[in-house]
Amino acid sequence: MLAIGMYKGKPGAHKLDLPKPEITKPDDVLIKVKQAGVDGTDFNMIKHNLQDPAEGQDKIVMGHEMVGVVEAVGNDVKTIAVGDTVVLTVRRGCGICQPCLHNQSDMCMTGLYTERGIHKKDGFFTEYIVDQEQYAIKVPNDVADMAVFTEPLSIAEKGVEQIRLIQSRMPWACEHPNHSFDSQDWGKCKTALVVGAGPLGILATALLRLADVFTYVVDIVQEDSPKVHLVKHMGANYIDGRGKSAKELVDFCCTPTDNLDIVFEASGAAVTAVELINYMSRSSIYVMTGIPRQEIRTELDAAQLVRQIVRNNQVVVGSVNSNRSHFEMALKHIPQIEKRFSGMLKEMITHRFGLADHDRIFDLSDTSRLKTVIDITG
Ligand code: BGC
Ligand code: ZN
Repeated sequence: MLAIGMYKGKPGAHKLDLPKPEITKPDDVLIKVKQAGVDGTDFNMIKHNLQDPAEGQDKIVMGHEMVGVVEAVGNDVKTIAVGDTVVLTVRRGCGICQPCLHNQSDMCMTGLYTERGIHKKDGFFTEYIVDQEQYAIKVPNDVADMAVFTEPLSIAEKGVEQIRLIQSRMPWACEHPNHSFDSQDWGKCKTALVVGAGPLGILATALLRLADVFTYVVDIVQEDSPKVHLVKHMGANYIDGRGKSAKELVDFCCTPTDNLDIVFEASGAAVTAVELINYMSRSSIYVMTGIPRQEIRTELDAAQLVRQIVRNNQVVVGSVNSNRSHFEMALKHIPQIEKRFSGMLKEMITHRFGLADHDRIFDLSDTSRLKTVIDITG
């Protein structure tokens, strides 16, 4: 069976030939992978030569976004049947802390979790996968086509969930009580700035626009980029951030409510990410989801930063990974996104490869690349 992985201490993506996995536990499911998605973490693993195989292993299969069809199930499996389309979550809990013991390994408190395709567990760039029933989520028929977006959308879902949970401290965010962060119409009367129009920034924008948040998206590409087309297709505004300071970016966003209620960082551009904190509005929230890799130093006025955050009741929160509930939210929102912004998910897929293309998949020289999908046939 073909797979794409990395060897410990060896740069680049390699073609692997592995035995087909088998069901060994009564709650196991055997899944034939149909599609896998490639994202920034995969590109960073290659670019920064990061491999974290399981203890005692010399290689790790990459990939943490997938959709597949169940080929066999163990004797105790109840919620999933042969022929079902399923997606798998990424993180496997530490088995020690309370969040992990309660299906919230995305909030693991020991750091002893593993992640399929990233930390100490083989991933999804392969033909067959075995995992436990509890990590598989059944995909409704009308979503199967676009279900490869479930994992990346689940990351955006968690970010938006954090915003709504934390900002429910502000029931009077505007004059309409039914526009509070915990109500159905939570996005009305709100302005957001999304930093980065990569797949995560675009998917976060989709969720914000579904909720009618007035949204600006900043990136460093020119107006004719496919990213900008998607931003506009969702009724969001594009800011070309090239040559603009953090202050100039925020000066753009303060209409129509004169308050920037939400900043959603999805670029991992660390210096801009930190500088933007200086321009947060009062009582607002800033969620960071991008993960910068190299060391980047910058100077800042620490006293001013602390004073401002305190005096303005500001929240800066990090959000990583996602749990089953976020996958379920994503599966609910995919058809809504498809309906409201017709064709946008399909348009996001700019590059398609097969498992045999391991040496082309991670070549980022084409700047028009947005979402890369690996079609797994055979
Ligand atoms: C994945 C998350 C994971 C994170 C850090 C992201 O690309 O989507 O599931 O937790 O990387 O490893
Ligand atoms: Zn844990």
